[in-house]
Amino acid sequence: MADSQAFDVVVIGGGPGGYVAAIRAAQLGLATACIDDWTRDDGKAALGGTCTNVGCIPSKALLQSTENYAHAGHGFAEHGIEISGLSMDVGRMLARKAAIVARNNDGIAYLFRKNEVAFFHGRGAFAGRDGDAWQIRVEGAKPATLTARNVIVATGSAPRALPGVAFDNVRVLDNAGALAIPDVPKRLGVIGAGVVGLEMGSVWRRLGADVVVLEALPVLLGAADQAVAKEAAKLFAKQGLAIVLGVHIDKVTVGRSDVTVDYTDRDGARQTAKFDRLIVSIGRVPHTAGLDADAVGLKRDARGFVEVDDECRTNLPNVYAIGDVVRGPMLAHKAEEEGVAVAERIAGQQAHVDFNTIPWVIYTWPEIAWVGKTEQQLKQEGVDYRTGSFPYSANGRARALGETSGFVKFVADAATDRILGMHVIGPWASELIAEGVMAMEFGASSEDVARIVHAHPTLSEATKEAALAVDKRTLNL
Ligand code: FAD
Ligand code: NAI
Repeated sequence: MADSQAFDVVVIGGGPGGYVAAIRAAQLGLATACIDDWTRDDGKAALGGTCTNVGCIPSKALLQSTENYAHAGHGFAEHGIEISGLSMDVGRMLARKAAIVARNNDGIAYLFRKNEVAFFHGRGAFAGRDGDAWQIRVEGAKPATLTARNVIVATGSAPRALPGVAFDNVRVLDNAGALAIPDVPKRLGVIGAGVVGLEMGSVWRRLGADVVVLEALPVLLGAADQAVAKEAAKLFAKQGLAIVLGVHIDKVTVGRSDVTVDYTDRDGARQTAKFDRLIVSIGRVPHTAGLDADAVGLKRDARGFVEVDDECRTNLPNVYAIGDVVRGPMLAHKAEEEGVAVAERIAGQQAHVDFNTIPWVIYTWPEIAWVGKTEQQLKQEGVDYRTGSFPYSANGRARALGETSGFVKFVADAATDRILGMHVIGPWASELIAEGVMAMEFGASSEDVARIVHAHPTLSEATKEAALAVDKRTLNL
């Protein structure tokens, strides 16, 4: 191809998987290009994918704004702080979120320049093979053809719709719509009590919406440790988040100004609920549309995920796939780690991602976080284990903060004391979980954590005490 540009690596997709893979590849001296098609309202490129544009970052911005509002409304009085005339300007909150997103978009563009990653704004598609190089077409305002020996597919995921109920982002909202509701709905319905449902439900509940979450499964947060899930259910109920478990959605009717959901409840009774808006958050599907994957025979599984081995190799030579478009948890940090590992493999290095220590965080308040195995998993696997828990109500810093809900819990192997899992529900669980990840990575025992000096007074002392509790020797309970 006469006018094609040659690279060592072409990354298709500039989300957390793709952009991090591109930076790491460039750091390792590989001539690297990244193609991404996300476009801002002003027509400019918006690097960062789902995570930056309509996922991790904007959701955390709204969660923080509404948390502040909720604290000002309910939490400050005990400190002696009286506020009258408290109000929320939703427009300003959304503008702040948009500014944070834009800063992150621009930050990634800066990182590309710094690391000399060539960026192409447009859609990337397989165009064929030229010797041992892949040809990739860039479709967009500035069409181009790139060639590279190595290709990393990092095209991410898209929201899953309810069959027959299209997202219009006016009444029926996907994650993008849920993050951009222009005013507080009086009645907000949410289908799916997963991570998006709980985070977005919390945002709008804190601002005064009547939120009803309809969940198909009979238990809340089935993947979390059930002690944590039980505590979460109690706290969400206290916050006025109505969660209905075990439902079957029969019909969704979209009206001019409302949405009607007909469902069957867990007792088999038919129910009808009317909402001003409805968030549908029932999981995500891998996104490969527009990639021309079939033209080169890129193999996908029955659910549409690009098939990869443990090292993210696809069925095609030197074509890798990472992040949400492949198996495993749909998490930004999982995508990033796979991206780094693949870049290092291409550069001839040994790389490894430990899928056993990928932390999960749900950014409700209090936050929920875990790493490793839950008690119910260990029971199922027939592993003999011990547990230790410590409540924040007995932690001095938590009392000073006025945040005493929740606990830290360890599960450790009964014979070796090796930590098998850490589970937290409480203030800043998202930050505290890193200690559990680190401990597990280094093969620590609960005694190791219990013997580490933790600063006083900190929330992390609850972690130490939970580790002590495994051996039934807490000091402060
Ligand atoms: P993506 O981020 O989806 O990026 C893929 C990119 O590729 C996109 O920019 C897309 O437009 C582009 N693309 C696709 N096809 C092509 C093509 N053919 N050519 C060019 N470009 C293409 N995870 C967390 O870890 N923490 C969180 O707090 C968190 N919060 C979330 C909140 C919400 C509301 C949602 C929806 C998700 C959240 N996630 C969170 C999940 C996280 O966003 C994803 O796991 C992560 O974005 C996956 O990264 P990725 O690089 O695989 O794909
Ligand atoms: P999810 O998989 O977390 O939850 C979907 C929920 O919907 C499940 O509880 C499921 O049982 C339920 N469900 C499925 N079909 C249903 C139906 N027909 N009727 C009623 N309920 C139904 O998916 P979610 O919340 O859409 O998020 C997608 C992904 O994005 C997550 O899996 C996660 O990987 C990622 N994410 C991560 C966040 C974080 O790390 N804090 C935040 C938000 C999303």
